[in-house]
Amino acid sequence: MSTAAPARKDFLSVLDFQATDLERCLEIAGHVKADRSLGRQAPTADALEGRHVAMLFEKASLRTRSTFEIAIVELGGNVVSLQPDAALGKREPVTDVARNLERWVDGIVIRTFSQKVLEEFAAAAPRLRVINALSDDQHPCQALADMLTLREQWGVVQGRTVTYVGDGNNVAVSLVHASLMLGINIHVVSPEGYQLPEWAVQQAASISRHGARLRLFTDAQDGVAGADAVYTDTWTSMGQEAEAIIRRSVFAPYQVNQALMARAKPGALFMHCLPAHRGEEVTEDVFESPASVVFDQAENRLHVQKALLSMLLAGPVKHP
Ligand code: CP
Repeated sequence: MSTAAPARKDFLSVLDFQATDLERCLEIAGHVKADRSLGRQAPTADALEGRHVAMLFEKASLRTRSTFEIAIVELGGNVVSLQPDAALGKREPVTDVARNLERWVDGIVIRTFSQKVLEEFAAAAPRLRVINALSDDQHPCQALADMLTLREQWGVVQGRTVTYVGDGNNVAVSLVHASLMLGINIHVVSPEGYQLPEWAVQQAASISRHGARLRLFTDAQDGVAGADAVYTDTWTSMGQEAEAIIRRSVFAPYQVNQALMARAKPGALFMHCLPAHRGEEVTEDVFESPASVVFDQAENRLHVQKALLSMLLAGPVKHP
């Protein structure tokens, strides 16, 4: 099982991977998932060889924080928890924080608002591996887990169609990136004014493989027709709480309910990155239905992040 490092040292976007890196990450994730029951006997139990990985979260997290901490420990690394007040530009420039940290730790997992902050952090510290644990623009680790879940469900994913219904947000952007790179057609259904950002639409043609297409819709019935999986996310992301009332009204016609699922192919999957808001973006019956793979997605966060950490941090990297 090769954990050869990708060309880019950081993982700020799915696009930091070549398609071959993405395929390899999913292969490794499948192996580490199968081996997890071996515990300390697993082949990757010492993959990080005591390397230190810092965690810096400026927003709430259940899944991402837990799974990264468990992944680091199960790979034989050490978790260093940082206080966001001390480390995200309030006391000193972000670039100085990054240059300090690269003297002590090998990698850092950051959840923050601005993708630009992540890019500045990564550029300032050439020896530090920086992983995006969610920014306002992208959520690439979620997309890795989503792709592993689809591979487990379908075997061959190429030629399938996933429909994302809702806000054209960070989760949608990374889902589009990963889907197109694996040859999955991706439909994004959003109300006017809440669509996928234009820069993400522009990226589609150059990253698409095997003829996969990105199609944009404003009508949920049209966008879901014939889909193999229907994906949704919260209508109000972290930092948008002041817009919650207006968003509930705008997005109401985009709720994923049984009537909408009936437009998809028979046996279509229901996906959600969580946390879910039953009665808003998804109904209770769809969330709890046999079609729902939401907890597989959540579990797979752990396995793909172990694969990612192995690829970025295992091997010839030495302590500074
Ligand atoms: N899906 C996800 O990123 O969950 P958390 O916000 O709990 O980390």
